[in-house]
Amino acid sequence: MNAPARTLLMTGASRGLGRKAAVQLLRDHPEQHLLLTARGGDGPRLAAELTSESGNPNVSTIACDLASLGDVRSAAAELGRRLDAAELPPLGGFLGNAGLQMTSATRTTADGFETTFGVNVLANYLLLRLLLGRFESRSRIIIVGSDVHFGDFKHNLGLIPAPRWTDVERLAAPGTGRAADSTREGRRAYATSKLAVIYLVHALARRLPPGTDVYSYNPGLVPGTGLVRDADPVSRFVARTALHLVRATPFATGPDAAGRLLARTAAGPRPGESGGYLDRGRLVVSSAESYDETREEELWTVAAKLCELPADEPAALSGGGE
Ligand SMILES: NC(=O)c1ccc[n+]([C@@H]2O[C@H](COP(=O)([O-])OP(=O)(O)OC[C@H]3O[C@@H](n4cnc5c(N)ncnc54)[C@H](OP(=O)(O)O)[C@@H]3O)[C@@H](O)[C@H]2O)c1
Repeated sequence: MNAPARTLLMTGASRGLGRKAAVQLLRDHPEQHLLLTARGGDGPRLAAELTSESGNPNVSTIACDLASLGDVRSAAAELGRRLDAAELPPLGGFLGNAGLQMTSATRTTADGFETTFGVNVLANYLLLRLLLGRFESRSRIIIVGSDVHFGDFKHNLGLIPAPRWTDVERLAAPGTGRAADSTREGRRAYATSKLAVIYLVHALARRLPPGTDVYSYNPGLVPGTGLVRDADPVSRFVARTALHLVRATPFATGPDAAGRLLARTAAGPRPGESGGYLDRGRLVVSSAESYDETREEELWTVAAKLCELPADEPAALSGGGE
């Protein structure tokens, strides 16, 4: 018997490894509706391009800039409306692939949060909080993290500083001063945001009903995506050269292979116990620092406050969002 049709909500499908994953999902799962968030007015063009690349028209988009909590609320409300109207099959999964890396820790989202934290952490948190009551049983939630959360040379090749955890309101606030306005601190904010993704996944795993799984996911080093596009030309040249050297090593994966692996993990056999860290699809142990229930719960509570949600009940999706 065929599996019942489900909707998979995905962020970050417009480029990089996410785009490859989206094409693969469309090729392999014609029964599944792929619902993508896309910035600005790019959605319809993206859906048309992915349809043409995959041969599968079962894809649609919702406009959402993840650097705006208002946009995230509107996107969740629009999804809720489409589910209620049975315009979409029931929600069966979330693939939070969108992420960015900045060259400073001083830039801000529409709501005044430091951009890396705002997009990589808060947007995932709010979207999932708003959708928690919507997932069918046997749903799978994946948020893309990174091995740079380990903070050691083996995992960051000296390209990204180690994460620096501090109290969550401080992490969410833009940095000030000259040091914060540097590539180094921008990249540190990236590593810290990916540590936060693992904390978020652990906190979420404790709250999800049995049968709904959540994982963080490391795609490995994937040269050739748009991740370092914010960097100045010299840094981009250095990154390209360094990455060219590691491309032939086991550290690196090309965008095609990385996308295929991510797609397989999002829609393939259950990868293991909920809450786990998937290294290119395989359940492994993340850094010692990434298992810290006190930090995880602090992140959950403070993120709720920053998103103006109660600390715990799933927010109801009604009309305008919360
Ligand atoms: N490349 C690597 O070596 C590597 C390693 C470990 C983890 N990762 C993670 O893998 C994921 C994909 O990265 P990538 O390397 O493929 O980078 P990428 O080519 O830059 O793709 C990033 C995706 O995120 C989306 N995004 C960024 N900011 C957004 C915003 N404010 N609102 C909506 N969408 C936004 C982008 O959409 P737009 O087209 O609208 O910008 C794009 O679809 C990220 O989470 C990244 O941190 C990458």
